[in-house]
Amino acid sequence: MNPSAAQTPPPTADRQAVIVAITGASGAAYALRLIQRLAQSNVFQHILLSDASRVVLKQEVDLSLPENTAATTQALAHHLNIDATSMRCYSLKDWFSPTASGSAGIKKMIIVPCSMGTLARIASGMSDNLIERAADVILKERRQLIIVPRETPLSSIHLENMLKLSNMGVHIIPAMPGFYHQPKTLDDIINFLVDRMLDHLELSNPEAQKWGM
Ligand SMILES: Cc1cc2nc3c(=O)[nH]c(=O)nc-3n(C[C@H](O)[C@H](O)[C@H](O)COP(=O)(O)O)c2cc1C
Repeated sequence: MNPSAAQTPPPTADRQAVIVAITGASGAAYALRLIQRLAQSNVFQHILLSDASRVVLKQEVDLSLPENTAATTQALAHHLNIDATSMRCYSLKDWFSPTASGSAGIKKMIIVPCSMGTLARIASGMSDNLIERAADVILKERRQLIIVPRETPLSSIHLENMLKLSNMGVHIIPAMPGFYHQPKTLDDIINFLVDRMLDHLELSNPEAQKWGM
């Protein structure tokens, strides 16, 4: 039985859809802001959360999510004050999820924040959970994968994994906010990076500050 069947059905082919994967690196606030902004753009979101991401969400933004995936969708939507019918969460072993197969036709995936563990497993093609499998599908189908890695300092292993994926066309947007826009608040810093993610997803982003404009 498909464990996500109780949730909103996936969108029809004419609605843009994005896979948003959240892993256990620091920077959960980036993921939450991105989900909020994508909901405003009427993009359907397939959301994948690693177990470690749930620990980080609790630690960094005091958000506890339930185990059950339908309840997770509701809790996330409630926390972000967005429409729950514009998104769907999946368990990491839900191999019936549309994110697990190229035939579903989902064109874009972003992993934010991306832990060094998930980065390494994707770079070596492990496909052992739904985040790794979804990324593997995007890569084999030569679609768009964006990774927002976060660690400091970076080891040669981390750098080699990023180079390997970059050479395959993956967009690497490190969680390295700039300060030349003179941020006044934490929100300004978060938005700076989320704007770059939306630019790379090629989604309408009128709020983004553009250099020289
Ligand atoms: C509060 C917290 C912050 C963490 N920050 C990072 C980080 O910035 N980068 C990273 O690679 N791992 C970080 N970790 C460790 C990862 O969560 C851990 O390696 C985990 O196994 C990653 O699993 P995942 O890739 O399945 O999410 C952090 C863990 C916790 C609890």
